[in-house]
Amino acid sequence: MNTMKINLIVNGQSRSVEAPPGKTLLYLLRDDLDLLGTKDGCREGECGACTVLLDGEPVNACLVLAGQVDGREVVTIEGLSQNGHLHPLQRHFVEAGAVQCGFCTPGLIMSSAALLEQNPQPTEEQIRHALVGNLCRCTGYTKVFEAVQHAAEEVDRD
Ligand code: FES
Ligand code: FES
Repeated sequence: MNTMKINLIVNGQSRSVEAPPGKTLLYLLRDDLDLLGTKDGCREGECGACTVLLDGEPVNACLVLAGQVDGREVVTIEGLSQNGHLHPLQRHFVEAGAVQCGFCTPGLIMSSAALLEQNPQPTEEQIRHALVGNLCRCTGYTKVFEAVQHAAEEVDRD
């Protein structure tokens, strides 16, 4: 199979990977870069479990090809905590009881992080809209929305 050298920034670090250009970013992260926080759900852009930030925008990593990320910047759930401290979203998800099985959680948090970056004081309606592409079978979403609201309040106070 043909491969290409892909240079990218992942969670602030320069990485270089030799991979087929048609491999998905999801498997580039999980198989080649050992970043298992990005979850492998539907593989067809439906569940949002694989959401990461690509140049600051949330994308489904299962729909992005390795050849498209050369020279670009990716942030995964592993890149959100700083110096061993959880990101406010991570902490509030735990505190609000918004994590049950946890499979959807990295994707929900990455979509929420993109929202708060663009809109630090979202309304509940805006939070619901931002998370419409992230499916959760366990929580019923109410605690997820609460967690994002609490994180936004904390980030806004800082
Ligand atoms: S695994 Fe990518 S959207 Fe479901
Ligand atoms: S916590 Fe289980 S799918 Fe969301």
